[in-house]
Parts: sequence; C-alpha cells; structure tokens
Amino acid sequence: MSIDYDVKDLSLAQGGRLRIEWAEREMPVLRLIREQFAAEKPLKGVRMAACLHITTETANLARTLQAGGAEVVLTASNPLSTQDDAAAALVSYYEIPVFAIKGEDNETYYKHIHAALDHKPHVTMDDGADLVSILHKERTELLGNVVGGTEETTTGVIRLRAMANNKVLRYPIIAVNDALTKHLFDNRYGTGQSTLDGVIRATNVLIAGKTVVVAGYGWCSRGIAMRAKGLGGNVIVTEIDPLKALEAVMDGYRVMPMAEAAPLGDIFITSTGDINVLDTHHFEVMKDSAIVSNSGHFNVEINISGLQKMAKGAPRRVRPFVEEYVLPDGRRIFLLAEGRLVNLAAAEGHPSAVMDMSFANQALCSAYMLEHADELEKMVYSVPEAIDKEIARLKLKAMGVQVDVLTPEQEAYLTSWEEGT
Ligand code: ADE
Repeated sequence: MSIDYDVKDLSLAQGGRLRIEWAEREMPVLRLIREQFAAEKPLKGVRMAACLHITTETANLARTLQAGGAEVVLTASNPLSTQDDAAAALVSYYEIPVFAIKGEDNETYYKHIHAALDHKPHVTMDDGADLVSILHKERTELLGNVVGGTEETTTGVIRLRAMANNKVLRYPIIAVNDALTKHLFDNRYGTGQSTLDGVIRATNVLIAGKTVVVAGYGWCSRGIAMRAKGLGGNVIVTEIDPLKALEAVMDGYRVMPMAEAAPLGDIFITSTGDINVLDTHHFEVMKDSAIVSNSGHFNVEINISGLQKMAKGAPRRVRPFVEEYVLPDGRRIFLLAEGRLVNLAAAEGHPSAVMDMSFANQALCSAYMLEHADELEKMVYSVPEAIDKEIARLKLKAMGVQVDVLTPEQEAYLTSWEEGT
C-alpha cells in the first residue's frame, strides 16, 4: 500500500517498532481496549485526525484506534517532540500516515497540520488545540464533516473552553485532561518524572544541593517539585493562586514571587501555561550558569526573544538541547530545548505506564463521542465518570492490586443520615 506521509527517515522504522513494542508492555489497559476494539469495531469507517506528540505511546494509541476500524492520520503537536523512529515505524509497519519530523520549523509544523486535515476527519484528537484552531480559522469548509473531538492537555482545554464561551466552537469536544485517571497520574507523575529526566539528559547536572525553582503549582508542577525534591533539590515554588501557593507551603516548599526566586535559583522549570513567566527582569538578576527550561505546552513561558536581545551575540549550542546566552556582564544563562517542552524534546515524554491511562481515555472517549454525537452540543464535556472509573479498575487489575468491597451494612450506613454521635 502506498500512503502519503512526511517523516524523517523510513530506515529508522525497525528500531521504532521495537520501541513501540517495548512501550506496549507497559500499556495493559490500552492493550485490552485494542482487543475489544478489534472485536467490536466501534470506530468502523471513521476518519480520525490526531495532533499528538508522536511517540511510541502515541503509536500504540493509533494502533488501537486502527484496530477499532478508524482510518487514522497523525500530525505532530509540537515541532520538537516527535520520535522519528516511531513515526517511521507507524508508516512502514502499521500503514498509518504520519506528518511529523523532530526539529521541523513552524511553517512545516502547520503544513503538516493541514496535511492531516486534508484527510477530512470526522473526529479530531488534539493535544494543545492547534488542530481545532486551524480547522476553525483556516479550513472551515471541513467543519461540516466533523462530529466531535477530544483534547489531551490542560492548555488545550483552556483554549477550547474559551472558544466555547465565545460561541465559536463548532462541534463537541471531550476534555480528556479532566479525567482523574489522566491528570492525577499523567500530569503529576508523568510530567514530574519526564521533566527531571529531560533536564538531566540535556545537562547531566546533579540535582542534589541545587536550588530548583518551579513556576506554578498545578498538577504538572506538583509532580516536578516532588521529583526535584526527591533528588535532593532545594525547591522554591512560585504561584499566582493563593490556594495552590498555600498547598505548596504545606507540602514543605518555600514560596515566593519569581522576582525573589530569580537570584536564588540554579535550575528553573516553568509549567504554568502563561507567557513570560521568566522575563528579562528575572534574567537580569540570575546567577551565572543558571539553567532555564519549560515543561508547559507552549514555548511562551520563557521570554526567549527578550533573552536574545539582552545577550551578546547569538546563542551557542554547547550540548544537544542546551543553548548558552552570554549577558553583557559575562553571566551565562543556559536555555534548554529552545524553551519547548523539555520532557519531550530532551527526553522521551511521559513513561508508557501513565500514558496507558491517558490514551485509554482517548480511545474510549472517541468511541463514546461517536455513539453520543447526536445528543452532544457544541461544548467542552468532561469524561464520563463511568469511563474514568473503569480505567482505574482495569489499571489496578493489570497491576494485580485488589480493593475492598463495601459490606451491605457499610453501604446502608453511607446512604443513611439518622446515625450520628
Ligand atoms: N505527552 C507527554 N508524554 C507523552 C508521551 N510519551 N506520548 C504522547 N504524549 C505525551
């Protein structure tokens, strides 16, 4: 079969397939769903365009959707997150068209999104909402085909809710990110581990004894702070939300404004979803050799153009994914992964065992979306609780963990109000 695609190098496919199979070993819930999908074909004849990080875990999701009868096309959700071997294997072994090359420029990134949309999807699957945004802004002629979509990440859900509030969203979306089996695990443990992995792979610095400044205390940042602390870092958290700041204080971190943290930090990691969290006035006061990185969805959290303007000359690449900026007084600031998601650019993204639950949500929510398309409005929906609970149950079962069952007496107690002190 010949398929249209744009990947780096098909000769990487064999290694990619081995890594996809390796990831699959840690994805028992998705494997089970794939078996069910293969038997029941809930996605039969459905064209799906998925804008996701092209990793070995995504490859296993795409195989699951394909087993369910969908015609899947993949495009990257970030120019630096593609695993070229996984992309090659998807094309060569699984006959899934992929448009993604690690390091592609912005123009190619959007060209790839358009190529995926050329498949005239019935369902969109997004991670950051770039696909939905282009569809609504530049490819409106295709909107009539679309019955619904899903969204993977916090940033994407925020954008889509803004579209729904502005009454411009033209089809229903399920916010996969909002499932407990997604954000409690993927955002916290996945981002926590993979972000530290990215910082360490890029720099090989010792975390123990370093001051690590974590910007934000949402689920992702909680994971980052926890893992940085676990490695012996001295963690400072910055926040704008009093509740989250209070939680960070009681979790044992120092909390202060970024202006105060800037001169103290050795390593900075942003994960807030907002722009210029690390700005020029922060670079002004940072220590020599401060390392700055981002784990939020977009490369907007560090003011890179401001840093470039402050620096003497162009940045120097001193290691893969490490750029050195020299300031007029000689201080050096090291920017990781061009300010893009450090966990996916410099490491391999979240481990398969957490993506198992995130992508189980994606798969089951796609089937749910198709089954209920007629009843759903042009809104952003939460993942049905039954799906969330079922994924937790299946994950526990795969891990060999059993839980207690309420006795009839306990059940009656929980539904009564008479008994008190
Ligand atoms: N987002 C974070 N980690 C990921 C991974 N391993 N695969 C796909 N999307 C991700």
